[in-house]
Amino acid sequence: MKSTITIHRQFTIGTVDPRLFGGFIEHMGRAVYEGIFEPGHSQADGGGLRQDVLELVRELGTPITRYPGGNFVSGYNWEDGVGPKEARPSKLDLAWKALEPNTFGTDEFMRWCELADTEPMMAVNLGTRGPDAARTLIEYCNHSGGSYWSDLRRKNGHEKPYAIKVWCLGNEMDGPWQIGHKTAEEYGRVAAETAKVMRLVDPSIELVVCGSSGSHMPTFVAWEETVLDHTYEHVEYLSIHRYYGNPLDETPGYLSCSDEMDRFIKDVVAVCDSVGAKKKTTKKIMLSFDEWNVWFHSQGAEKRSPEWTVGRPILEDIYNMEDALLVGSMLITMLNNADRVKIGCIAQTVNVIAPIMTRKGGGAWRQTIFYPFHQASKFGRGTVLRQVVDCPSYDATFHIDGAEGAARPIKDIPVLASAVVHNEESGEIVVFAVNRDLTCGLPLDIDLQGFQPQQIIEWQTMSDPNLKATNTETEEKVRPSASQGATIAGTRVQATLPAASWNMIRIR
Ligand code: AHR
Repeated sequence: MKSTITIHRQFTIGTVDPRLFGGFIEHMGRAVYEGIFEPGHSQADGGGLRQDVLELVRELGTPITRYPGGNFVSGYNWEDGVGPKEARPSKLDLAWKALEPNTFGTDEFMRWCELADTEPMMAVNLGTRGPDAARTLIEYCNHSGGSYWSDLRRKNGHEKPYAIKVWCLGNEMDGPWQIGHKTAEEYGRVAAETAKVMRLVDPSIELVVCGSSGSHMPTFVAWEETVLDHTYEHVEYLSIHRYYGNPLDETPGYLSCSDEMDRFIKDVVAVCDSVGAKKKTTKKIMLSFDEWNVWFHSQGAEKRSPEWTVGRPILEDIYNMEDALLVGSMLITMLNNADRVKIGCIAQTVNVIAPIMTRKGGGAWRQTIFYPFHQASKFGRGTVLRQVVDCPSYDATFHIDGAEGAARPIKDIPVLASAVVHNEESGEIVVFAVNRDLTCGLPLDIDLQGFQPQQIIEWQTMSDPNLKATNTETEEKVRPSASQGATIAGTRVQATLPAASWNMIRIR
């Protein structure tokens, strides 16, 4: 049981766009209400924004945040969420069967972004609405003044335009569950026309068009082909989503889901490039993996949460050690596709399938998955290097489509998942590695050709003999700690990765 990684300084995959480490705040469950916004909480400022949560979000490091949905956006009237609060209407949120009080809206989100050190990524409603609401929203947000909607923003106390750069053309429009679900043909047309009018208001924006809600969607590939046929010239990014779960406790197979994610990305890139070839253009469409995470622990719990109430708790997954291993491996997959995946949003940021949890009137804490994300976001910056990996592999059986789906055999799962990033500015090489072997340590030999490694700055490891261990408000059982014993010999760095562990090795 031995593994090697060989890289060369000159052999690169691509530059990491910091937006790869984005987050997501949807009007859903307790993400907004009782999450980032809780007027009256001892930690809330005058505008109701919880400062303890902001502090954790800044620590997590999400340079971009998608908002306001999610499925929510497909039934959202953005105008309900601006202006004097006492005049804002309470409405039914049909996506999540909640009551939406609209006491938090665009202007509150923009203030939160400023305090959270994050750039907004705004989605427009292409479910119940269309180009008209999209053009008024962008006029409100990005036009300087002298027009009805921009002057309304100024009247609401925001003199300067927000200059929101990245906009999503709807959400998961391929999904039959989506309010205003469309065929690829219908969506492609409306997305192209919406893109056109939004760019007439502000030509400097970047646009994200909806791809598939997952590789398991029956329309996957055909959807992308048709939608891109209509929109290729109008957009910069195609959005994709993917969630994984382990409902039948099949951990060895579960940990291989990041390899399925890799195949998904490569398939989507192939479709984008095929449409590009057909159009005889050199323009490349980049990917926005703007929903990804583990999601299964809470399934069914929403049935116990009262419908049509504000912030009804849903999707409050409590993550364990093995979930952190998969989240770490998914980050590794995204890094290894940094040439095409430019935006990524962990879904979501607070309380709803999230790395950060809060208690109403109480504290805020880090779930297990917080840590691999935090370390990858903080140190996974620079150029990703191409690796040649040699390591043992194993076979497993896994219900990739959930408990109701079929068990699938998965062959030759590499024990090691890894990414190597060269940060030219700091002169560091950072190795992110997951040992998927649940019982044995994995000796790792990393040959850094073209470099002269001088010093192990740090080796952080996260593991726990109990793969089901979780964190709570009062006890953070699962967190990384410093490991010793990594050595340097010439161009080689050697370390033995503990069984079932997430690792970050920083080398000067
Ligand atoms: O992130 C939770 C939900 O998952 C989002 O609202 C939707 O886009 C996806 O199906």
